[in-house]
Amino acid sequence: MTAAVLSGKTLAQELRQSLKETVSSLAQNGVVPGLAVVLLGDDPASSSYVLGKERTCRELGMRSFDHHLSAATSQAELLSLISQLNANPDVHGILVQLPLPQHINAQEILQNINPDKDVDGFHPVSVGKMVLGEETFLPCTPFGILKLLEKAHVTLSGAEVVIVGRSNIVGKPLALLLMQQPYNATVTVCHTKTKDLAVHLRRADIIIAAAGRPHTVTAEMVKPGACVIDVGVNRIEDLTNPKGFRLIGDVDYDEVALLASAITPVPGGVGPMTITMLMYNTVLSACRRHGIAFPL
Ligand code: GUN
Repeated sequence: MTAAVLSGKTLAQELRQSLKETVSSLAQNGVVPGLAVVLLGDDPASSSYVLGKERTCRELGMRSFDHHLSAATSQAELLSLISQLNANPDVHGILVQLPLPQHINAQEILQNINPDKDVDGFHPVSVGKMVLGEETFLPCTPFGILKLLEKAHVTLSGAEVVIVGRSNIVGKPLALLLMQQPYNATVTVCHTKTKDLAVHLRRADIIIAAAGRPHTVTAEMVKPGACVIDVGVNRIEDLTNPKGFRLIGDVDYDEVALLASAITPVPGGVGPMTITMLMYNTVLSACRRHGIAFPL
């Protein structure tokens, strides 16, 4: 069997087209969805994600408010910026790029974002609502993965899903979503202290690799016919590439693709979906703020 390639890039383009149409109809009502992006420091991976978010905003006709600050910015300065953004009616979504420098208390920062503008879904109110199955902003990477699985008609109800990684951004929220209605999967979460990862993975109908470590999922750990979602984005040195590096996921793609039923590539899989769901949440936030029905 050779796996079907689940292209996040293609699905993201389709969704962005629909979002673009929604943005232009909002413009007829004088509403332009606005996203504030806050970045501290110049970590190359974070800078590249943030530039991608800002570029996509503009491509869709939205406004992007860019706040690229020094890594030495204090907790008080950052809290003051968050409070300005909360008060700005042109800002419908606030994204603070993680991780933040060591001296910043990230939880305090996230808790000060107005939940109505929490398009990342990281505020405790958003997380609580998500856990209870109430309507809220869903965190963008898990949301994008759900959209990809839905588009590929992967059966989730009763499926054995094994997630590798328990981060607050991906593993934990995805587990909480997949176990709930309407998905109804049976979910196992593996992490760095799991005794025998392979034993769990071999039972999985669906594998979600979100460990942030290359070669976490190798071919002998995968049941033939499983669906494999690779969330990893790892930079490895490649002197043949003008950038000096290339991106690989957490999964041994070439070997696993020979036995899986479906697999996401890296790049071009989950990554473009994350950015697209951020735009989706920001347009949704603008619609809610102005009492306009969100058509998607
Ligand atoms: N860092 C890695 N992924 C994310 C994300 O989805 N949102 C934010 N704010 N920071 C991140």
